[in-house]
Amino acid sequence: MTSQPVLDVQGLVKRFRMPRGTGGGVVHAVEGVDLTIGDGEIVGLVGESGSGKSTVGKCIVRLLEPDAGTVRLAGHDITHLSQRRLRPLRDQVHMVFQDPYSSLSPRMTVGAIVGEPMRRRHGLSSREAEPRTAELLEKVGLAADLRDRYPHELSGGQRQRVGLARSLGVDPRLLIADEPVSALDVSVQAAILNQLKDLQAELGFSCLFIAHDLSTVEYLCDRVAVMYLGRIVELGTRDEIFTSPKHPYTRSLLAAALTPDPAALRSRQRVVLTGDIPSPIDPPSGCPFHTRCPSVELPRCAEDPPTVSVAPDHWARCHFVTPAGAAPSMDVAGSPS
Ligand SMILES: Nc1ncnc2c1ncn2[C@@H]1O[C@H](COP(=O)(O)OP(=O)(O)OP(=O)(O)O)[C@@H](O)[C@H]1O
Ligand SMILES: [Mg+2]
Repeated sequence: MTSQPVLDVQGLVKRFRMPRGTGGGVVHAVEGVDLTIGDGEIVGLVGESGSGKSTVGKCIVRLLEPDAGTVRLAGHDITHLSQRRLRPLRDQVHMVFQDPYSSLSPRMTVGAIVGEPMRRRHGLSSREAEPRTAELLEKVGLAADLRDRYPHELSGGQRQRVGLARSLGVDPRLLIADEPVSALDVSVQAAILNQLKDLQAELGFSCLFIAHDLSTVEYLCDRVAVMYLGRIVELGTRDEIFTSPKHPYTRSLLAAALTPDPAALRSRQRVVLTGDIPSPIDPPSGCPFHTRCPSVELPRCAEDPPTVSVAPDHWARCHFVTPAGAAPSMDVAGSPS
């Protein structure tokens, strides 16, 4: 990683005030997220539905205004820049949205959708943009004759690819890919992930890859952040997270993830998640996972857990994780950590 990360998020907070008619209250969607992404790095952001992943992405691209914290893009603090002052930086960070149907204009053809941001970014006429549009469609695995179709005439997988091609046309430094394959068949998922990986290697952009399961992230990401109820509970290199997970929540997610490797399955501790994620309107105090944690100890876990460094570039927020260099002890799931 270079000394100046492409993305540097510190203490990000986003809350939504619910209208009185719906019962009122405040949704604690993101509660103090720190995250950096280096040049050419792919970082996974993983967690169950409602944990705040998309909200983090939308705050980074400033579709949502953060309530606290800072977002720096290649050293520029963009947290509260006006839309006008944000404009020159707009194309440096692009988001592929979770729902490609609602984020693609229904009245524009595929060619226009992919070509328009690229033309704006590079000051090209539509004729000049044509060869590059064709090239981009090919890069994401879309047939050239789809160029004249409208989004409703495409399959879900084709729409996902259109969203990806549109974002790549502006040569972003940072791509926020919000569950770009979650709604698709496994075979189509693999094809799009392969393409994303190849494109990243070719074009060199950095990427925040949002997913709710760990299996796609293992293939793609250099580092992985695990999010629960608005907080990152563990962050580490891919190998650390997959071979030596520390937080009980990460272990639960790993146990739930399908893996074709039986040896890996055996070595992963079976910690099964029960119950739903608690309401972010009234989140639990202390460790947000303590109400579902198989290793919970009260009242300790209802107090804020420390951030424990367990290896270089690997930390977890749990009262029972042993810091790197400390004497070995029994860890949260009952095996030596
Ligand atoms: N505009 C909004 N107004 C009110 N609450 C919102 C809004 N957007 C998100 N939320 C709430 O914030 C929390 C986090 O939502 P978010 O969409 O970030 O979750 P997510 O991790 O992306 O989930 P998923 O995996 O389902 O996409 C949820 O409880 C959600 O209902
Ligand atoms: Mg989401």
